[in-house]
Amino acid sequence: MANPTESPNLMEAIVSLCKRRGFVFASSEIYGGLNGFFDYGPVGAELKKNIRDCWWNDMVRRRGDVVGIESSIIMHPKVWQASGHVAGFTDPLVDCKVSKQRYRADQLFFSRVVVRKGLQLEEIEGTKTITTTGASISVPIEQATITSNDEVIGYVSALESENTAGELQEKAESLKRKKAVRGQLLPVTPRDMTEAKPEEIELIPSPATGEAGSLTPPRAFNMMFETYVGALRDASAISYLRPETAQGMFADFKGVVDTGRVKLPFGIAQIGKSFRNEITPRNFIFRSREFEQMEMEYFIHEDADWAKCHREWIDWCRSWLVSIGLPESHLSEYNHPKEKLAFYSKGTTDIMFRYPFGVQELWGIAARGNYDLTQHANASGVPQVIFDEATKKKFTPHVIEPAVGVDRIFLAVLCAGYAEEEVKDEKGNVEKRTVLRFSPRIAPVKVAVLPLLKNKPELVKRAEELHARLKRRYAVFYDEGGAIGRRYRRQDEIGTPWCVTIDFETIEKDGTFTLRERDSMTQRRINEAELFALLEKEVY
Ligand code: GAP
Repeated sequence: MANPTESPNLMEAIVSLCKRRGFVFASSEIYGGLNGFFDYGPVGAELKKNIRDCWWNDMVRRRGDVVGIESSIIMHPKVWQASGHVAGFTDPLVDCKVSKQRYRADQLFFSRVVVRKGLQLEEIEGTKTITTTGASISVPIEQATITSNDEVIGYVSALESENTAGELQEKAESLKRKKAVRGQLLPVTPRDMTEAKPEEIELIPSPATGEAGSLTPPRAFNMMFETYVGALRDASAISYLRPETAQGMFADFKGVVDTGRVKLPFGIAQIGKSFRNEITPRNFIFRSREFEQMEMEYFIHEDADWAKCHREWIDWCRSWLVSIGLPESHLSEYNHPKEKLAFYSKGTTDIMFRYPFGVQELWGIAARGNYDLTQHANASGVPQVIFDEATKKKFTPHVIEPAVGVDRIFLAVLCAGYAEEEVKDEKGNVEKRTVLRFSPRIAPVKVAVLPLLKNKPELVKRAEELHARLKRRYAVFYDEGGAIGRRYRRQDEIGTPWCVTIDFETIEKDGTFTLRERDSMTQRRINEAELFALLEKEVY
């Protein structure tokens, strides 16, 4: 059977599994859902918590140079003015006046459709034929002069996808057929709406209606959610749901330096919700309007080798992703071109992941100079400096910022771990098994405890005892319903790495039970001490 990890239907299979097994639901689903918002069900919440915990343990607790904080979601509005978000946290937006659809201008592509109507030469049965638009004449080849005459016959548009150019080309071919224009269709040249000239906007068809004339020119749309703090609903009460957690670390920099006994280089990390009024939330939880970030600001000396530190953090982030089970083969890097960087930025590299819908940003690692702290020092009047013992001088440190979304990692581990296989059941019949090959570090359930038969009290009692002991330290699941093979399949579908079955040998012989491994499906006898040792080693 083809592994659907390779198939274009992988996203559909994953979304369906997420709903069926309680990973992710649409938010407020009973009211039809709310675009860009999601809820995490029982196993989803465990998976998400494990991703967070792994990051926190490795990023904060197991390093000596990073401390953690938890800042508030709503901060003083001046934070967002100083950071530049009020003025500049915008995406270019295009409206379709007819369908009322909204598009991100940089995700809406168009092309002119150009037909070359010059003379074309054809050799038919030994004679030379020149075909012009609408007519064929046979002339001696020496008399033919070939001129080219390109005509724009219209525009086509398509939303960004894996195959934007292909889609535009198909639409161009169809337009040429519809208009019955003769001549040679030239390859499309995709541009996005931010590159459209004012006179072209009227001519570009809306992807919703297929008709031209309804798209507006791109305009800047601020993605911050506004709210009011206090009883008044006027401009003085406006505040924002944070669009990133990073500003919390900058705003608390002084507090941490004054109290945290930190010395350079050091990092401040936090995990928390962020909110962005995305124009086009899409690809399931990949781009949503409420999501969770894990960000760290690593402060370095102003004279430090920022490029070296930046590279070290890229490598750290990549190896961390591998440590929670993402295959190295799915990861790549994208360096933002210098000309697209903000004036203060020294460099940004994104770690990209191969999702089923394309290679997309998973983790951004930015070298931001000392821009943010300087902005806050200027806006608040409170110096954001650190004392350098060596030079006995105060200065504003520079920063490397690795910023990643929990939900994007969640989706990546689902995509990388999902597999469908044909396996044989106990009777030798071939059946399909769906399995999530999660790393034990992040698997929502670590062990399922299964008494072989539910009507044998001695088996049930022993299984319950083991379950009680395991659950003090690990997320475990007790299941006594159905054939043992079916119970294994249920655990495979939520990615449980191990099942232990309590059988008659357990109670009548040596106390060992069967340990069944998810990926190899092999079974072996193991005792309780060995089981705890295995978990201690693999779940960290
Ligand atoms: N402080 C820098 C910052 O926030 P960003 O590239 O805008 O940078 C960092 O966001 C990470 O947050 C992204 O790499 C992505 O993993 C995640 N992220 C950003 N927008 C998101 C969204 N709308 N939905 C889910 N995750 C998002």
